[in-house]
Amino acid sequence: MYTAEQTKVLQDQSKDILSKLNNSVTFNDLALLKQVLRFHEYRYYVLNDPLLSDYEYDLLYQCLVKLEAANPDMISPDSPTQRVGSSLNQFFETTPHLVPMLSLDNSYNAEDLQDFDRKARELSGTDLLEYCIEPKFDGASISLYYENDLLVRAVTRGDGVAGEDITNNIKQIKSIPLYAPFSTRGIQQIEIRGEVIMSKNAFEQYNQKLVSKGLSPLANPRNAASGSLRMKDPREVAERNLDAFLYHISYVTHLHNQHDKSLETHGGSLSLLWDMGFRSPQKEKRIIKGIEGVIDYCLSFEATRDNLPYEIDGMVIKVNELALQEKMGMTSHHPRWAIAFKFKARQATTELLDIEFQVGRTGAITPVAKLKPVFLGGVTVSSISVHNEEYILQKDLRIGDQVLIERAGDVIPQIVKSLPELRRGHERFIQFPKKCPVCYSELFKEEGEAVWRCINIECTAQVVEKIIHFVSKDAMDIKSLGEANVRKFYELGLLKDIPGIYKLDYFSIAQLDGFGKKSLDNLQTAIETSKQQPLYRLIYALGIRFIGETTAKTLANAVNHLMDFATKSEEELLLLEDVGTKVAKSIQHFFSNQQNLQMLKELENIGLQLVNIKKEVSADGTLQGQSFLFTGTLEQLKRSEAEAKVEAAGGIILNGVSSKLNYLVVGTDAGSKLEKAKKINSIKIITEQEFIELIKGQ
Ligand code: IVH
Repeated sequence: MYTAEQTKVLQDQSKDILSKLNNSVTFNDLALLKQVLRFHEYRYYVLNDPLLSDYEYDLLYQCLVKLEAANPDMISPDSPTQRVGSSLNQFFETTPHLVPMLSLDNSYNAEDLQDFDRKARELSGTDLLEYCIEPKFDGASISLYYENDLLVRAVTRGDGVAGEDITNNIKQIKSIPLYAPFSTRGIQQIEIRGEVIMSKNAFEQYNQKLVSKGLSPLANPRNAASGSLRMKDPREVAERNLDAFLYHISYVTHLHNQHDKSLETHGGSLSLLWDMGFRSPQKEKRIIKGIEGVIDYCLSFEATRDNLPYEIDGMVIKVNELALQEKMGMTSHHPRWAIAFKFKARQATTELLDIEFQVGRTGAITPVAKLKPVFLGGVTVSSISVHNEEYILQKDLRIGDQVLIERAGDVIPQIVKSLPELRRGHERFIQFPKKCPVCYSELFKEEGEAVWRCINIECTAQVVEKIIHFVSKDAMDIKSLGEANVRKFYELGLLKDIPGIYKLDYFSIAQLDGFGKKSLDNLQTAIETSKQQPLYRLIYALGIRFIGETTAKTLANAVNHLMDFATKSEEELLLLEDVGTKVAKSIQHFFSNQQNLQMLKELENIGLQLVNIKKEVSADGTLQGQSFLFTGTLEQLKRSEAEAKVEAAGGIILNGVSSKLNYLVVGTDAGSKLEKAKKINSIKIITEQEFIELIKGQ
């Protein structure tokens, strides 16, 4: 899309504009800004290889927003600002496709492919056919129409003949260009087919967000993608971070009879789309003569499917030469020149035998479906979390139902749906308990939450789960005391709370089966060593609601002693990075509980680190005495890594913006700290990249 030379020029131009932001950017820079932003969108969303930090990109974007606001006549439909969905979709107009969108015939094994090849050679009158093979993306199909280099509309598949106009939603997918220089290749109108997908990463992140809001997660990336196309609010579509692969040109008209040679083959069409800035399967495609090589490529791709960042459900094999495609024609359902090779299914049906209600360490009651064991994508599945009451109702699950389950790659298995048509009358509704299944105290549900909780902190189930969390790898990391031992010791009355870990009766344990001298020594050493774990690990290990590892580090850095939290006000807590009202309230809740304070005192007496031991500052470090603060999300370094680098070079980390601060390092989505720092002249505000360069010199 961009040559090395163009890349250099555009990058220099970006830096130029960045250096004169706020003072000398003018109306004359508007066209260039658009070009530069388009280039960076491409680097980020298509190549996954950005050349600017998110912060720098945002600065440029905001600059364009300002210039356009002052010069509204200059707003063009291909401006990067025009993706933003300003209003809700009222309805989706039915729109015919220029060429009907067909489906594909399926094959499942080598023989099917050999059959296909035989027929294809017959139909095309060729002895040896050249094929183009590419992944079969598992998402929702779309059709895009560009005229004079601009995206005019995007349409769903619909019934294949006509779909619905979803242009506003499709504009939220940043890897789909609003402008593509087709005219440079002699093309005036073009209709392109492709698949909207959600990467595994985006899917997991989006589901985590849903679950943390107490909502039910989506079943799989495909449903997440297809459910997005017809959403009323384009901003919600944007939040899903969708992606799109384009794999087929269905219609094209040329300027002045100028024909591009690349349009003579399918592989050439994919290259052309790639050159125009689309994500086409350019790197994934292979051009292979003869079906045996095709079969090999399909099987080798299947073996590595779990390593891909997105889901595919097979490969598509297409006759490469378009003239031959035309000769072979199509049925009313599918082209005769292409076939899908479907990978082994990762779906299965099985019986829902029962629902077990488990109590987590925060008292959350999680219903877990017990299934008749079934082999699925390499593992036997016999239980699956069904999250919460609403989820059970939504999916209309009943005990005794046949359910369709799916395992998408390395994603945890999910129940896709129940199969009510197979019910035989003996199925039972699922009763959500009113009382904790372990301690029988009454359950509560907070407003706006989907989760029922047992709030009895002495509930034995919670106590055990808390101990298991305390010893886990990212917490105190007491390896020899894993989940199984915690449960065993608890059942035998050898361990009843967290401080109890440090007071184990080794004599009694030695009497148990499987505890020889060596394993006992290991256990004792692991427990003793854990006393030296730094404060942030202890904070995380306490299992305070909403405190993950990152927040635990921020908290550890904010105090000299853990008990300091007992006297911190909500306002003070809110000043800390990543601490919002929910987290602040949770901290206060924990530290206002006498039993918790008692436990912390006990842990301190036992010898655990409740003091925040700051690392020794190197005496000759060049950042000696310089203070740093990080805000926003860093892209290249972890926050903890960046802070460690500062300290290693003799600098110090501050907790808030004040005149004592020398450097504020700004990541993406920086908020109030940046605003505050801008008001203090002596603070140097730098980007992550600048920080990395500063550190490099050390
Ligand atoms: S070609 C005439 N190529 O699979 C062209 N389809 O099961 C027909 N799909 O409807 C489509 N990846 O939505 C083609 N690389 C690929 C594909 C692909 C996914 C979808 C497409 C199609 C469905 C058929």
